[in-house]
Amino acid sequence: MPATHLSCRKCGADQPLEGIGTCPSCFGPLDPIYDYDAIRTTLTRERIEAGPASIWRYAELLPVTPPAEPRLAPGVTPLVAAPRLANELGLDELYLKLDTANPTHSFKDRVVAVATAKAQELGYETIACSSTGNLANAVAARAAVEGLNAAVFCPYDLEREKLVATAAYGATIYAVRGSYDDCSRLTVELSFELPWGFVNVGLRTYYAEGSKTVAYEIAEQLGWELPDVVVCPIASGSLFSKVGRGFRDFRDLGLVDGVVPRLIGAQAAGCSPVASAWAEDRAVKPIRPATIVRSLAIGSPADGETALATVRETGGAIYPVPEDEVGENMVLLASTAGVFGETAAGVSLGALREAIARGEVARTDRVVLLVTGDGLKTPGPVADRFDPVEIEPDADALLDRLGVPA
Ligand SMILES: Cc1ncc(COP(=O)(O)O)c(C=O)c1O
Ligand SMILES: [Zn+2]
Repeated sequence: MPATHLSCRKCGADQPLEGIGTCPSCFGPLDPIYDYDAIRTTLTRERIEAGPASIWRYAELLPVTPPAEPRLAPGVTPLVAAPRLANELGLDELYLKLDTANPTHSFKDRVVAVATAKAQELGYETIACSSTGNLANAVAARAAVEGLNAAVFCPYDLEREKLVATAAYGATIYAVRGSYDDCSRLTVELSFELPWGFVNVGLRTYYAEGSKTVAYEIAEQLGWELPDVVVCPIASGSLFSKVGRGFRDFRDLGLVDGVVPRLIGAQAAGCSPVASAWAEDRAVKPIRPATIVRSLAIGSPADGETALATVRETGGAIYPVPEDEVGENMVLLASTAGVFGETAAGVSLGALREAIARGEVARTDRVVLLVTGDGLKTPGPVADRFDPVEIEPDADALLDRLGVPA
């Protein structure tokens, strides 16, 4: 495990590889530091290709010892070409990264697998989180398979589909009468009092690193090449920042050549603190979310500033997507690619359409759109499309109705 210590993103102070969520001196976020010189001498494409078919094939670039017996391991999700959607959008080459194929149908299984490996190393018997839904599913399932307890804190009015699955996995659900940001504050307070491994508080440094594997996989699945553009939804900004980091890692380690892709960030118009900060070239200001896209409803994004730095570094953009276009985009994705992504995917597709309309993305760009969660958890915005043709079980009657002569 070549991670050597944690370092504060703000003041640069070093910390040991423990369960420390933020810098004790300045409360800045912490990042694991790796011995890249050592990694460069051992990590090759062949070595990665010979590894397990999961995120653990990139263990050298993760800040935990991989589990001796990986169970329900996430990652190595399909990267599929979407020619009909590409054609619709006026692109030559478009791929979908189907993180819906993870055990609980979202990319959150990646981050939870890494955070839980650390939680187990530190001896925690309970893992916990604040969540907009998908993280709760992932924590609950991971606890179930590892034989740990799970406690999740979600806004009380989240999509039932997410909460019901979480309950089936056996987690204790605290339905908080408040927003996600209230849940987040609550878990920060509780983390000082309870001997639980809060995956996105004290273990956040480890959790966040799991998202780099999305970028590693895309590069590997494209035959060790970098795409030109990657479209990624933003809630806390962690996934977006770490995807950028992942592509940089691979390039700096000599595993791929070329330029790090432009990252296009996507937020719902009713919760777009990072998109607004980018558009107005200022710092992120917390807002009160009012969006149907519950998975991205974070008004005070912990990694908002890092996401801004990432978008600037990669020459990308961040767009807000109108609320009433989210369902339409979910339907466009489903009906042209056969992929039913959740509201966050509708937002990502909306941001891609905006980038194309503005000329930020050209026909010849090789584009990857992240589908980070499953539409079956958020069917609400497309419910009005459900209009079945109700018939009797009578072939003649149907043929007659279809105008087929008897
Ligand atoms: C489906 C989905 N996509 C994207 C995100 C954004 O993740 P982050 O908080 O790392 O920005 C979330 C967060 O909950 C999510 O549930
Ligand atoms: Zn600091």
